[in-house]
Amino acid sequence: MSGSRELLISGNWKMNLTHFEAIQYVQELAALLRAGPLRAGRALSLHPPFTALRSVQTALESDSVPVALGAQNCHESEKGAFTGEVSAEMLSKLNVSYVIVGHSERRQYFAESDQLVRAKADAVLRREMTPIICVGESLEERESGEALPKVSCQLEAAIGGRSAAVVGGLVIAYEPIWAIGSGRTATVEDAEEMAAHIRTEVERLAGEEAASFVRVQYGGSVTPESAGDLLVCKDVDGLLVGGASLKAESLYEIARAR
Ligand code: 13P
Repeated sequence: MSGSRELLISGNWKMNLTHFEAIQYVQELAALLRAGPLRAGRALSLHPPFTALRSVQTALESDSVPVALGAQNCHESEKGAFTGEVSAEMLSKLNVSYVIVGHSERRQYFAESDQLVRAKADAVLRREMTPIICVGESLEERESGEALPKVSCQLEAAIGGRSAAVVGGLVIAYEPIWAIGSGRTATVEDAEEMAAHIRTEVERLAGEEAASFVRVQYGGSVTPESAGDLLVCKDVDGLLVGGASLKAESLYEIARAR
């Protein structure tokens, strides 16, 4: 497989940081990146809550900070009477590049089904943004040997029947549920095994070329200490970072690891 995929390190802030804190964060990150740019082939995205998107967009653009803007979720419909929801169009008009869909917290706490995750990915793609499609197994599924089939099912639902060109442009984030916020990072072997499995499944569903282009992130208790070993895995093309992304310096260290 191609070893030339760009590594994408994404900070998912979840429900943290006000828009004031977000502006300060971007200023700190911008200063770090000015003093020590990321090496070629590495990119960063920030996924603030909706309330901070406009502030982060303005802070990034006014200073030409080399960081992409991302969102954590969107509604699957174009527009309409969906009180409290945000559409893909609204995000695209803020120059959002990446939208996380199907995060396990949304699947678990907001009952998002595989079908809904696919519809959300459709909405993101219609607006020419890149979905970061999250997959991953629970602890029970891992312990009963069901991790690989579970992820295969989630992938089939999200990407089956899509063209090779579309699938090759996607980001798939492998986030084992038991590793999220638990302080228990998957071993490098577990992360690489699943990332390779995801690539094999992408090849089955959309062909070899799509599999060589699709980017596979790992997420779950990533820290500056664990990032380097994960980033050198052959099939891991980046990291989706929660808690350790809440400080600019820590996300920067993760993006600079190795
Ligand atoms: P933590 O890094 O806090 O475990 O969160 C991972 C995650 O869910 C990123 O989307």
